[in-house]
Amino acid sequence: MADRSGKFAGDNPFAIARDWLAEATASEINDPNAMALSTVDEDGLPNVRMVLLKEIEVLDDGDGAFVFYTNYGSQKGQEIAATGKAAFVIHWKSLRRQIRVRGLVTREEGPQADEYYASRSLKSRLGAWASDQSQPLSSRSSLLAGVAKVTAAKGINPERPPFWGGFRISPVEIEFWADGDFRLHDRFKWSREGRVDPWVIRRLHP
Ligand SMILES: Cc1cc2nc3c(=O)[nH]c(=O)nc-3n(C[C@H](O)[C@H](O)[C@H](O)COP(=O)(O)O)c2cc1C
Repeated sequence: MADRSGKFAGDNPFAIARDWLAEATASEINDPNAMALSTVDEDGLPNVRMVLLKEIEVLDDGDGAFVFYTNYGSQKGQEIAATGKAAFVIHWKSLRRQIRVRGLVTREEGPQADEYYASRSLKSRLGAWASDQSQPLSSRSSLLAGVAKVTAAKGINPERPPFWGGFRISPVEIEFWADGDFRLHDRFKWSREGRVDPWVIRRLHP
């Protein structure tokens, strides 16, 4: 077992991730939950873009997951549908820390997604209906016309679009990284074969 202490201490990597995010929320100037999400296309060519990490789930049995929301028909949505896999990195400049995750992805399109959708501003809810995310768009005015159309059709209480919801990343690897003097950074990698397998924790060379 690796000699972990201080910010790396604990038996549950999801709880550690939550603690780090809470610290970052207090220190970052904006979007402490912004993460770079990576997927691969059908040729194995990687793709990366920012999304917002909306939930770090910590379950009673010690398992957990990372949840974000998007359009299922988007480029990322299609790539996840094809592979069932994704990775992300979240970096906090002021804390000088990062968390890297690689895992298997499933949809969250139940009550939890409904609840999150309902918590968003009305304009964001209508925007989700109007945006055919990642598809070519002829002009901004045609997007705004689309928003006006769904506003007229859906009113002030739009239901969650069936093509919009959450993705839950269940990790097989989580790495916690913290800046060290002279680039002698600390890295701890948690790995497991699958969800039911125990975590193996290793300290890595920087
Ligand atoms: C800080 C930040 C946060 C973002 N959060 C989200 C998000 O939570 N969900 C989302 O679909 N797009 C989000 N975006 C937009 C994505 O980066 C991206 O442009 C969009 O999802 C389309 O990606 P795709 O074509 O690879 O599917 C965010 C962009 C930035 C810069």
